[in-house]
Amino acid sequence: MNVKLMMVQSLDGCITAGKNSNIYDWTSQEDAEQFFAEIATAKVIVMGRQTYEANRTKIKLRPGTLRVVLTSQPDQFISEKVPEQLEFSAESPTQLVKRLAAAGCPEILLVGGSICNTAFLAVGLVTEIWLTIEPVIFGSGLTLCQTLPSPMALELQSCDQLNSRGTLLLKYRVTE
Ligand SMILES: NC(=O)c1ccc[n+]([C@@H]2O[C@H](COP(=O)([O-])OP(=O)(O)OC[C@H]3O[C@@H](n4cnc5c(N)ncnc54)[C@H](OP(=O)(O)O)[C@@H]3O)[C@@H](O)[C@H]2O)c1
Repeated sequence: MNVKLMMVQSLDGCITAGKNSNIYDWTSQEDAEQFFAEIATAKVIVMGRQTYEANRTKIKLRPGTLRVVLTSQPDQFISEKVPEQLEFSAESPTQLVKRLAAAGCPEILLVGGSICNTAFLAVGLVTEIWLTIEPVIFGSGLTLCQTLPSPMALELQSCDQLNSRGTLLLKYRVTE
């Protein structure tokens, strides 16, 4: 199973500007375009409950794409569930990947946030990381992930400048 993690961060490694949960206050249009192009073709998109709540009004469900929101309390979201398009799950990343793979899913697009990323990275399930670096510095905020059991090695596949301000899109493969 390919698990592609896509995130955007500041030059100093923050995925949020301090406590502001709205990343569209500081991310570039060019990053949004490449991100939503990936969202448009993804069959399965996985996110943490806090990322879902921060983006609830922007999420456009459509047939053929399943969004899975990880939460320890899926029962609290029963009224928001949409069959085959939006589900809430308390599965571990390993259980979720196993279930989706058995259902024939070849790829998951993992879109954060920090806690959810950590859960996948900690058990070695992430195979690719697409990281946009915006030319801003915040000094505080959440980071891409939290403490991991061991360091991870990556190999750069490509590096593209998305605009004249210097927004960079780095694509890495996880090597171990
Ligand atoms: N810059 C970017 O690219 C980017 C991308 C995504 C998000 N963000 C930002 O990041 C912030 C959210 O990140 P976050 O780290 O605070 O939260 P998060 O990872 O989005 O969500 C954390 C929650 O997800 C649930 N969860 C995660 N792993 C789970 C597991 N293995 N099993 C069951 N439930 C699990 C838990 O929900 P319960 O508490 O319900 O149990 C947990 O509290 C937001 O401000 C968002 O805007 C930035």
